[in-house]
Amino acid sequence: MNRKPWGGGYARPTSSIIEDFTESISFDHRLAPYDIKLSIAHARMLGRQGIIPASDARRLVKELERLENEVGEGKVRWNSALEDVHMNIEAILTKRLGAAGKRVHTGRSRNDQVATAFRLYCADAAEGLSKRCALLQSAIRRSARRFGSVVLPGYTHLQQAQPVTWRTYCEAYLAMFDRDRGRFRASKERAMEYCPLGAAALAGTSFPLDRRAVARELGFRVPAPNPMDAVSDRDFAVELLAALALCQTHLSRLAEDLVIYSSREFGFVRLDDSVTTGSSIMPQKKNPDVCELARGKCGRVFGSLMALLTVLKGLPMTYNRDLQEDKESVFDAVETVGKSLEAMAECVDGIYVDRERAAAVLGRETLATDIAEYLVAEAGVPFREAHAIVARLVASTDRLERVTEEALREAHPSLSGAKFSISFEEAVRRRGLPGVARKRMMKKEKRRERR
Ligand code: ARG
Repeated sequence: MNRKPWGGGYARPTSSIIEDFTESISFDHRLAPYDIKLSIAHARMLGRQGIIPASDARRLVKELERLENEVGEGKVRWNSALEDVHMNIEAILTKRLGAAGKRVHTGRSRNDQVATAFRLYCADAAEGLSKRCALLQSAIRRSARRFGSVVLPGYTHLQQAQPVTWRTYCEAYLAMFDRDRGRFRASKERAMEYCPLGAAALAGTSFPLDRRAVARELGFRVPAPNPMDAVSDRDFAVELLAALALCQTHLSRLAEDLVIYSSREFGFVRLDDSVTTGSSIMPQKKNPDVCELARGKCGRVFGSLMALLTVLKGLPMTYNRDLQEDKESVFDAVETVGKSLEAMAECVDGIYVDRERAAAVLGRETLATDIAEYLVAEAGVPFREAHAIVARLVASTDRLERVTEEALREAHPSLSGAKFSISFEEAVRRRGLPGVARKRMMKKEKRRERR
């Protein structure tokens, strides 16, 4: 019989089916570095407070530090009969240190322990994700520098709307990933707000713990003020999952654009061979599988958010074993979004933007709005009227493809002759200027015309 650390009052062993059903070591071994870290802070504090002998505290810290290295090197063999990472670590300490090992669990419960370890994991994960967002942003910035001046169709409703530059397009995604980084920063802050240690099972402990010192040593802002909330709160994990879901949404949108833009029908983006995959039957194929996977992985990331909310929604106070179900969702979402960010950064570095093709697919009618604005600025026509004039012009000139002198004069006198010279590049430039600079440019142009 494999005696459980909690098996003192048990007459019969756990059935193997139940062991298999209840174990979490197969996934929560990821918490080992955090469990060790918090155990070191806890043991030190127990020694300082005279709750356990100072010599035991020293031995515990030393052994935990050794174990930390062993975990880092992948040398530790986890035992699923010991349920979870917390009891595995305690069992290793007890095996190596005897009575001193048994003292580490003084004044704490796995309930406050797992909540603390999970917060530390989430904080670390959030920081790592923010860094990966920044790396993707660097790739996007490189692309903006290489191809920024290329003018391509901007779409609404996936219909060509107005010409835009690749730079403006890139900047849209930079803004999205800026917000994601802000959300990851906030997720870390939330996780590191309250340190649950000292809440014990749900109601605190009679041992004179120094909760402030432990919280400080682990990098938390303060000890969690309410012990019942401390052991059952997983809001911080939900917030991280929400940030992850949004980040994957942004990746998915970028991926979708690249799938469309790299199709033959659009074709102004090409993806490098190193980021496309072939077909086992069609020899000509170079498929944007990376983008499709980044798009498809939204399914599991959104699912994780929904899974955790569902686990939490009906929980009676305080800790319930349901909470063990918080971890796989978060681990999976963190790893999925992390890898997607990395893969999409590779993808973006492999983008070639084809200037000629972009010019070829760009329809002249996308200048309609710019021409209407030109009419307002040049001839003082009210915008609604300018809109109608240009709409007629678009209809009568085959979407502005065959614009004759006559058609222009008919549409509006100020559209005739040299004044109708708006090119795609100029249209983009006029809109690209901030308000004041644009006003100055308009004045200068008027002066030049009067001369
Ligand atoms: N493995 C458990 C979890 O992840 C640790 C806490 C167990 N607590 C308990 N009272 N059974 O939630």
